[in-house]
Amino acid sequence: MDRMTSDHDDETPSTARPVSPADRALFLRSEIRRHGLLYFQDDAPEIPDDAFDRLVRELEGLEAAFPELAAGSPTLEVAPPPGGRSLGEIIHQTPMLSLDKALSVQEILDFEDRLRRFLGSTSTLSFHTMPKFDGLAVELSYEDRALVLASTRGDGRRGEDITANVRTIGDIPKRLPQGAPASPLQVRGEVYMDKEEFSRLNEEREAAGQSIFANPRNAAAGSLRQLDASITHRRKLKFFAYGLSRPEDSGAATYGGLMEALGRWGFPVEGSGASRSAKNLQEALAIFRDIEGGRDGLPFEVDGLVITVDDLSLWPRLGATSRAPRYAVAAKFKPRAAKTKVLAIEIQVGRTGALTPVAFMEPVLVSGVRVAQATLHNEDELKRKDVRVGDLVRLQRAGDVIPEIVEVDLEKRPPGLPPFVFPKACPVCGTASVRKEGEAVARCPNRSCPAQIEARLIHFAHKNALDIEGLGQKVAEMLLSSGLVRQPSDLFRLSLDRLRVMPRFGEKSAANLIASIDKARRQSLWRFINALSIRHVGERSSQILAGHFASLKALSEATMDQLQALNDIGPEVAKSVLDYFQSPLNHSFLADLMDPGLVEPSLEAPASGGGLQGRRFVLTGTLSSMTRAEAKARIAAKGGRVMSSVSKETDFVVAGEASGSKLANARKLGLAVLNEDDFVKMLE
Ligand code: IVH
Repeated sequence: MDRMTSDHDDETPSTARPVSPADRALFLRSEIRRHGLLYFQDDAPEIPDDAFDRLVRELEGLEAAFPELAAGSPTLEVAPPPGGRSLGEIIHQTPMLSLDKALSVQEILDFEDRLRRFLGSTSTLSFHTMPKFDGLAVELSYEDRALVLASTRGDGRRGEDITANVRTIGDIPKRLPQGAPASPLQVRGEVYMDKEEFSRLNEEREAAGQSIFANPRNAAAGSLRQLDASITHRRKLKFFAYGLSRPEDSGAATYGGLMEALGRWGFPVEGSGASRSAKNLQEALAIFRDIEGGRDGLPFEVDGLVITVDDLSLWPRLGATSRAPRYAVAAKFKPRAAKTKVLAIEIQVGRTGALTPVAFMEPVLVSGVRVAQATLHNEDELKRKDVRVGDLVRLQRAGDVIPEIVEVDLEKRPPGLPPFVFPKACPVCGTASVRKEGEAVARCPNRSCPAQIEARLIHFAHKNALDIEGLGQKVAEMLLSSGLVRQPSDLFRLSLDRLRVMPRFGEKSAANLIASIDKARRQSLWRFINALSIRHVGERSSQILAGHFASLKALSEATMDQLQALNDIGPEVAKSVLDYFQSPLNHSFLADLMDPGLVEPSLEAPASGGGLQGRRFVLTGTLSSMTRAEAKARIAAKGGRVMSSVSKETDFVVAGEASGSKLANARKLGLAVLNEDDFVKMLE
């Protein structure tokens, strides 16, 4: 599972299982070979590409630390990893975003609340609903009404060229009729395999002794990304259109109208009772319940209902976050569950000391992905679910990613199964655990606990922190146990000579590690901040902090007021930052890290944004065409920042109706003041 997915997710449980490196390497080898075959030979990947990449990286890390394990390893073979094959790469002109998910009726209602708040409107919004197809997003580019390019979504910005394969899909028009635009047009939609073709294909494969596809989505994905288009052709794939990269190309005023235009231009559009307009959210909810109950009757697999704001003129106003548009939500159906047996429950110690119970289970496929462990989050959650070793449990992948134990099958519980007793002490250092009032998480309070030190070191090197390749768990263990590293800053003082004489560390792996550490010296400041393992401070907060404090030193001297004045930095985060820099335990580490010449954090921004990159705005008064939330979001979407008070650093002051003292201050400082019209023009 990915560490550090959000600011709230501030824990990195360290796996403290006593498995020898040789055993782990053997296990990884066999997993990599198995998944490689599933992927390349059978088109039946069981795990996503990034999970596969993590297996390979872990094995590479092990082999770097213990070179004798490398002989005959799959890491030395030339077989290209998933994603690295030779379908050409293309860049999407407009990013292909994902959809936000609503996992409950409440979250669907929240979606409408957000829209209302954002638009500052109380009038009824109308929607359009469509099944969420479980296939593969593709973009079809037409020029002069002829299909010229087809691509996968990829990471949203770069995808793969699958034109040859897509040409074999009968559903997809190769030429558009008169009446369709002749100017360049990009149609988006989903390639899928219907249930009938899916069973046919699997029966055929079974008869031929081949492994079967876990679900129609994997079957479609595997079929579409074939290097040999004739294989794609033999698997009957289908297509539904659901959008345009530029909705205005449709000439329609509503999403329903856009879908009609796509239909007129010859694209298959889904026509069941699930694809229609809904006068209001209540109607959309009724459709949701209806389709969830009847999903088995549809000829293709669906995993939810996409609910979209119908009025296209609201789309640009609502805009998008970096991952998803605000005008649509994917309301997910309850996933079909899988059952398995709990083999063990272990307590893992995270980098901020959190004690996290983790269940290890007999591996099962959950929505097409093999799952063998799941977090039980904390003591309360474990008690509430009352999971015991030996229980049969129902598993789901929450939001389709993180595996979760939903409940225990009490009827199947063997008699006399003892409840799991949550330990009162840290399983690694033995210090009595502490659970603060009002908190669900018990923690090991000992910042010097070996498990915490190790977890912090691993986090320091993590991809989203300093990105030091080759510093995974095993290497971290070795560096710490040998005494070469006591605190993360020691990494920057490691010498090749010290490292290469380490037992099991080869010349090459030592040199590689030193090189990645050297590269890390000049990582961007936000990565350094994220690397510190400050509680509640993850990637996003680190980026915000790096945007305002030009160095670690400046951040270490920040006051509560300065921190709290920042947008999106709440009191909890601010306090945590102060605590961190005040704690004597961090002093030697920080002093070392700030030692001139040891590292040189750079100030480059995390990702390039729109035309207002780095500009600082202050808002004052009321705008008539948008709410303050909308104004902030639109500035941020273009790379700008909104500050709460006027200073000489401010680039623009946006003055609406009834502007107050901020406007007066701005005038005094001679700053640029925009009225609403200027501001709207700037955003456009
Ligand atoms: S998007 C543009 N509609 O879901 C207005 N996406 O989670 C909203 N997907 O990569 C329409 N069915 O591949 C839309 N009916 C549908 C969809 C759909 C499936 C996929 C799409 C995207 C993913 C995002």
